[in-house]
Amino acid sequence: MTITVRAAAKFNLHLGVGPVREDGFHPLATVYHAIGLYDDVTVSEAGRWEVALTAEDHIALGEVPTGDDNIVVRAGRLLTGHHGIDRTARIEIHKGIPVAGGLAGGSADAAATLVALDRLWSLETSDEDLLALAGQLGSDVPFALIGATAVGGGRGEIVEPVADNGAWWWVAVGNEQGLSTPSVYRAFDELAGAEVSDPQVPERLLMALEKGDPELLAEALTNDLQAPALELRPDLAQTFADGEEAGALAVQLSGSGPTILMLCRDAAHAREVARAMQARAYDRVWTAPGPVAGAHVVSY
Ligand code: C5P
Repeated sequence: MTITVRAAAKFNLHLGVGPVREDGFHPLATVYHAIGLYDDVTVSEAGRWEVALTAEDHIALGEVPTGDDNIVVRAGRLLTGHHGIDRTARIEIHKGIPVAGGLAGGSADAAATLVALDRLWSLETSDEDLLALAGQLGSDVPFALIGATAVGGGRGEIVEPVADNGAWWWVAVGNEQGLSTPSVYRAFDELAGAEVSDPQVPERLLMALEKGDPELLAEALTNDLQAPALELRPDLAQTFADGEEAGALAVQLSGSGPTILMLCRDAAHAREVARAMQARAYDRVWTAPGPVAGAHVVSY
């Protein structure tokens, strides 16, 4: 038997970062948003843990590990450990989410693996336990389970859905050179120093989501990691300028980057902005709606 689970990319509509904690993580007040770029994870019973990778066009697999250090094997081991069972599986990942792009593709794969193996082995893990296991795998993994739009607290792993009445359209522009998340957080610490206060989710963002108004949303997008990422990668400033010139309502770095997201009025506007970016010789350009669902079974 094989089971395929699909999980979406995430974008942080708001990413508020606080002063570094003793465990090295940063407290976050974030608003996660699942957008329509997907990885599919297919699992089947096997005599040992195996990982196989394929990708859509224009997605470079780069340094994604295929051994035991892949997050999907960690997810599998965590789930079997939780149930006290000794089973292994082959895990095939088909990537439609750019790798090392700040879109939480690895987290999507981990969430999809938890859901897929749970179904493959009829484990019937409770939602609460799945969310707790996801939180142990990475800060963004619980959100990948629930999808749609949600507030994230703690180091990002405590998620709570929020009302989102928008039918948003985004253009995502990737960059061939990835950015390391820890290095962006370190640059944040250096830039912000002791000035940082506890992060909050802005009320006006929640209002914009409730109203579903793209002009209001455009004014409410914020990302505290954008300035430090630009310190590390000044070349990204050109993509911001090009996105604005292409007519996007707002342009913002996704998570710790380097992918840049452009908010558009509707699907037709997104196609127009994407074409304008392609005309400027960007070859990693995707249009995506949001919000979309969290990790879900698509075939079995
Ligand atoms: O949780 P995750 O594995 O995605 O985190 C990757 C790295 O990003 C962490 O090791 C840490 O350096 C940084 N991070 C952080 N604060 C967070 C989330 C991630 O400093 N809230």
